Amino acid sequence: MKDELKILAARTAVDELVARGRIRSGMKLGLGTGSTAMPAVRRIGELIADGTLSGICAVATSFQTTIACENLGIPVYSMNSRQIGGSLDLAIDGADEISPEKHLIKGGGAALLLEKIVAYNSAEFVVVADGSKAVSSLGTKFALPVEIIPEARISVAAALKKLGADAVLREGVRKAGPVVTDNGNLILDCLWASPVQADEMEYEINRITGVVENGFFTRILPSVWIAREDGTIDRR
Ligand code: 5RP
Repeated sequence: MKDELKILAARTAVDELVARGRIRSGMKLGLGTGSTAMPAVRRIGELIADGTLSGICAVATSFQTTIACENLGIPVYSMNSRQIGGSLDLAIDGADEISPEKHLIKGGGAALLLEKIVAYNSAEFVVVADGSKAVSSLGTKFALPVEIIPEARISVAAALKKLGADAVLREGVRKAGPVVTDNGNLILDCLWASPVQADEMEYEINRITGVVENGFFTRILPSVWIAREDGTIDRR
């Protein structure tokens, strides 16, 4: 059921954005990571294949999304390429949690660094999700991912403790070792005993030496498509 809602949110968002001209031929698009972003990527691939969209230049936020784009015939470039020039027209992605003020937690798939580089350098940011992602506050339920330089694992965990967070090193599925991000870093997953002010915490965490980036997204407010269990779409 959740997978169907993810597909519904993703396809509805892409189709409405195309119908309203907010996704157009020739645009530079950022493409997110995860099980909700993927059907959006697939839909964009279909619209390129049927000729509705042409001249799209995409930036993928993970190896997973890069491979999907290769398979779908979506041209992928580096943010630094001549075609992209460091900025995008629109980015579309999933989220792990969405607060009432549209602050996000992202990085459940460990792709938060590139996802944030892409989102924060896009003129428009679109988030697609199923209803379980809409929450009343951030910090106490879904653990905030913090990408760190491996050598700073212990010192960053101690600094996060001073900010009230209980930080746990993310392990791989078979517990054979830690998860290593696409950038060769580690992830500390952080939980607080009570809800946090995400915009302040985004800034404070990134001041810690050894932190590369954290999964609070508060500096660009997304347009959000949430598919509810009854099949309706909540647009925010
Ligand atoms: C990956 C992300 C994803 O967007 C987030 O984890 C949501 O994933 P899904 O759509 O599979 O529930 O931030 O780093």
